[in-house]
Amino acid sequence: MNRKKLIAGNWKMNGSLQANEALVRAVVAGLPAAGEGAGANVGSGADVALCVPAPYLAQVQSLVQASALDLGAQDVSVHASGAYTGEVSAAMLREFGARYVIVGHSERRQYHGETDAQVADKAKAALAAGITPIVCVGETLAEREAGQTEAVVKRQLAAVIHVNGHCISEIVVAYEPVWAIGTGRTATPEQAQQVHAVLRAQLHAASTRDDRVRILYGGSMNAANAASLLAQPDIDGGLIGGASLKSADFLQIIAAARAAAA
Ligand code: 13P
Repeated sequence: MNRKKLIAGNWKMNGSLQANEALVRAVVAGLPAAGEGAGANVGSGADVALCVPAPYLAQVQSLVQASALDLGAQDVSVHASGAYTGEVSAAMLREFGARYVIVGHSERRQYHGETDAQVADKAKAALAAGITPIVCVGETLAEREAGQTEAVVKRQLAAVIHVNGHCISEIVVAYEPVWAIGTGRTATPEQAQQVHAVLRAQLHAASTRDDRVRILYGGSMNAANAASLLAQPDIDGGLIGGASLKSADFLQIIAAARAAAA
């Protein structure tokens, strides 16, 4: 199946009202005009989303209105509502037009102690609200060097499959090797493809509709290396950190995704 590529920017904890406006306006202005390529989205080749800090959802929702960009969030509560100070529910994200939410990013697993089981419940909460979870998996450098890469990513994805059952075809997966995040050290296309193929096989064993699931690569993806990563058969897009904060770089990655799909 020819899956439409997805390029998702993860702004992490960056931005300001002023900087966001300049960045989003520049990205929207740089997208191919409607009619260039098919449909209202970014040509036939790629969906594009911006995953922004929660306080900026309303601002970015209005900035992307009438553009091809989709909105996403970076985390979601497992709870629907109630006495959970500081948490943000999936229904709240939905009210602000979020189409995607990142769950289980390694920074949340590492700094906030999120477990595989919590990540699976977050994916479930998102799906229940009609939001597509972007489920992150990935090994640390120590795990890779110990030969545990496959076991780690399979364990992380298995938890999500276990809790979400047949809905699993509605998720997006992001393979983000922890050692490649923000380090400038990218997985080679072959290293990434190898893990993506493992995840693809695992999804295939779990669902008859697994071929819908997009598996993104994340970890120092940039304008220079995007094309070779996106050319791999099981790399269906990218989850972009640092390079999503620079409109020119982000636009080049989007262009690479469109070219890979052409
Ligand atoms: P960088 O692109 O900055 O390495 O970050 C990747 C990432 O963590 C995206 O979620």
